[in-house]
Amino acid sequence: MSDTFTTTRATMRQLVAVVVVLALAARQAAGQVFFEPTDGGGFTIAFQDQVVFRHSADDPILSIGSGSSDFSEKHGNFKINDDVLKKLPLSEYKYVAEGDDSVHITFTTDEDPELTVGLHVVQISPNTVDISTDTNSNAYNRLWVRLWAEEEEQVWGVGEQYSYLNLRGRHYPVWTSEQGIGRDGSIIANLSDVDGGAGGEYYTTYYPQASYLSSRRYSLLINDPRYLVLNFTEASRHEVFLHHHMFHATLLREATLMATVQAVTTTLGKPPQLPEWIMRGTILGVQHGTDEMMFRYEEARDAGVDVSGMWIQDWSGSIETLLGHRVYWNWRWNQTYYPDLDVVIAGLAQEGVRVLAYANPNLVEGSEMFEEAAALGYLMTDAEGNAFRHDFGGFLAGTVDLLSEDAFNWYKDEIEKNMIALGLGGWMADFGEYTRLDMFSADSTHDAESRHNLLPVAWARCNKAALDNTGMTGEVVPFHRSGGLGASRHQVLTWAGDQNVNWAYGDGLPSTIIAALSLAVSGMGVTHFDIGGYTTQAPVLARSKELLLRSTEYAVFTPVMRTHEGNKPQHNHQYYSEKDTLLQFARLTQMHSRLLPYTRSLLQALKATGTPVQRPLFLHFEEDVGSYEVAYQYLFGPDLLVAPVLSKAVEEWEVYLPGGGAEWVHLWGDGAAMTGPMVVVVAAPLGYPPVFYRKGSPYESLFQEIADEFGGDERLKGRR
Ligand SMILES: *[C@@H]1O[C@H](CO)[C@@H](O)[C@H](O)[C@H]1NC(C)=O
Ligand SMILES: *[C@@H]1O[C@H](CO)[C@@H](O)[C@H](O)[C@H]1NC(C)=O
Ligand SMILES: *[C@@H]1O[C@H](CO)[C@@H](O)[C@H](O)[C@H]1NC(C)=O
Repeated sequence: MSDTFTTTRATMRQLVAVVVVLALAARQAAGQVFFEPTDGGGFTIAFQDQVVFRHSADDPILSIGSGSSDFSEKHGNFKINDDVLKKLPLSEYKYVAEGDDSVHITFTTDEDPELTVGLHVVQISPNTVDISTDTNSNAYNRLWVRLWAEEEEQVWGVGEQYSYLNLRGRHYPVWTSEQGIGRDGSIIANLSDVDGGAGGEYYTTYYPQASYLSSRRYSLLINDPRYLVLNFTEASRHEVFLHHHMFHATLLREATLMATVQAVTTTLGKPPQLPEWIMRGTILGVQHGTDEMMFRYEEARDAGVDVSGMWIQDWSGSIETLLGHRVYWNWRWNQTYYPDLDVVIAGLAQEGVRVLAYANPNLVEGSEMFEEAAALGYLMTDAEGNAFRHDFGGFLAGTVDLLSEDAFNWYKDEIEKNMIALGLGGWMADFGEYTRLDMFSADSTHDAESRHNLLPVAWARCNKAALDNTGMTGEVVPFHRSGGLGASRHQVLTWAGDQNVNWAYGDGLPSTIIAALSLAVSGMGVTHFDIGGYTTQAPVLARSKELLLRSTEYAVFTPVMRTHEGNKPQHNHQYYSEKDTLLQFARLTQMHSRLLPYTRSLLQALKATGTPVQRPLFLHFEEDVGSYEVAYQYLFGPDLLVAPVLSKAVEEWEVYLPGGGAEWVHLWGDGAAMTGPMVVVVAAPLGYPPVFYRKGSPYESLFQEIADEFGGDERLKGRR
């Protein structure tokens, strides 16, 4: 009996073990959350066979602590001193519970025996995991969370970045700000630093977002509007440093990188529909009154420029400051400066041309709107409750308290009355980054750091609410600079902000490619940039004819073309500066219009599946290791490979053709198809940007027509 019993028990134990192993294997196969102890007393948590966390006493996944920080601001540039006062590694853990689709673990530390911190990893759909922590203590305000990483892993995104596409090896604060003028110790950055701390860092951006995409095909979206740092400096982990005692994030993982990006875009909410009119021709940025605008319009039209819109940023008037001619920040039509604008708008509409204007969340002191908003209590306040007057360089302005519902609705109504009812086709929806920690909202829901990072989201939401309320979504286009997690669902379009009018990789023309691609993988799949850049500081920084034209030829292969005269127009080469430029520019706007059927299909794909319009190569060629190294080329949709010329005085350009079966045909070449992976050098004279189309594309005949119509330069044919 006893023998039998023992045997039975042993068999039972084996059976139980087998069943457990089978159950675990089944769960692993189903891609569920999987906990496994490791040698030495640690554990791993995996999802879909991918290790997410790897804990050991020496390298704990969580640390909690406290700290204090100081944020000083000048003109939208922030100096942040972040002191860690205490940091307790949570080395000990108690494995608490494992459900079918969840793992719950409690952590403790000898250094604070009362403290417990819970980690909850819960699968909420086949490809989505919710990760959160909680704690029994309010004594802490800092948290470090370590996710396991492979040495070779790449990461991208964190909203809009400018300096690097692959973020590995660096840390990225999530704090909206000016991008800075010049960066990384360049001479321009140093000069800007002397002149008010305006020099940038590799990570300063208008549109940071607490998320990243990993080459292991997952994306992490962190649900915390406070300042945080995504730290990718270590080979074996990614660390999230939070100004909070709790963590909450969503991890998405799909079968391909592309599917993961589509899931991110869809989860965050797809950007609203971009209307067709803006995909054709170009918007011309001009200013100085109705007559000047009409003169520029007729001049361009007569030269063959395909004009979709006239963008007048100074529609509300202008003021002269020490920094030059600036827009008057009172978001109403200035009828003395722009007489008959309403009539002109109606007239231009007959010719298929829209008029676009400008707005931002701030109101210049003493203006009608400032006084009204101040009287209603709709401006952000100082500690005493008075309207906060913020130094914007040459004048003071208040900020509409978009975080409070009443002020939000007031501003939404103003947009409807002043802008949409006037018949505007859109506007630059500028700024949003300057909220200081000593600026207060009537809504006390959010702490100071959250108010700062949430203002861009509220600004986007306010513009979208005005469109929705007037039925103009999909027709009128506000284009945004600032953003953050949750902004993309409200943004019809963004633009890359204020590039320097030069060739610098950090924040000149090349940086707009990194901006578009990092935004694309962050869920904001439709963006554009100021043709020729913006920030001018003559004589060090002034736009050349060549930069303007290289920038234009690249903009042809983006969803929207729009010029900007820059902040010092007189020092910059403009599309209208001379006849030759005007004609070359006109040809490129026509080329862009010919692409419309293709561009339209890309916007349809964004709407249907969340696929970004401009895409890094690796989204389509995930198996081609070479494509991961290519930061300054992109795919405009699935079938056009674009490698903009990013240097002056070059006649040819090197292009990487990704492998993976696709055959590529140089748009301006001899028609030969080439199969990647390979590097080719193509002739690239001005006006013939290095572009390849995919052989067999449904749009192949369109591309060939464009090549025939705009090619015609025999020198290019057959050259390699
Ligand atoms: C800019 O300043 C930094 C720090 O002082 C210095 O290391 C760097 O060499 C300077 N750059 C130039 C181009 O002078
Ligand atoms: C990023 O991580 C590295 C390595 O652990 C550390 O030295 C550095 O201080 C971290 N940076 C930030 C801003 O947390
Ligand atoms: C309109 O613009 C002009 C020119 O910039 C300015 O002098 C004037 O004060 C503005 N008027 C209003 C009502 O804002």
